[in-house]
Amino acid sequence: MAEDLQVPYGASKGEIYKALFPQLQALTDGEPDLIANMANIASALREAFGFFWVGFYRVEGDRLVLGPFQGPPACTRIMYGKGVCGTAWKGGHTLIVPDVEKFPGHIACSSLSRSEIVVPVRNNGLVTAVLDVDSDRLDHFDEIDAFYLEKICALVR
Ligand code: SME
Repeated sequence: MAEDLQVPYGASKGEIYKALFPQLQALTDGEPDLIANMANIASALREAFGFFWVGFYRVEGDRLVLGPFQGPPACTRIMYGKGVCGTAWKGGHTLIVPDVEKFPGHIACSSLSRSEIVVPVRNNGLVTAVLDVDSDRLDHFDEIDAFYLEKICALVR
């Protein structure tokens, strides 16, 4: 397939996610390589929304290890239960953090990150990775992001 993304820039975020989702399905469909799929998803999300940082952390034993991402360099290892990512892994559900400075234990990979959403990736019920999206705006993420990012994370397996 062609890899050019068709993004309705200027539309509402729900409309952008709606346009993006089938394209991500097509990009990942039939591609068994996890890293390739994570890489394309991170790229497409950053391209479509201009998020400050988008990437995956993969579960490796008792910690998360940095995976494919788009944006500035980031922390490479996060322990289970630590930071927003480790907390979302431990809790097994999506975490929306409107103001990272108010999240106890937030791990600041960049001082420019102001709000964040972390979505667990599951494989056969187990959390195998998390998708982390950071914004340089306060209170950037809501239930619309959670809904679509969870659907997108279901494409990663
Ligand atoms: N802020 C995250 C760390 C990862 S970076 O934001 C890319 C956390 O608290 O887990």
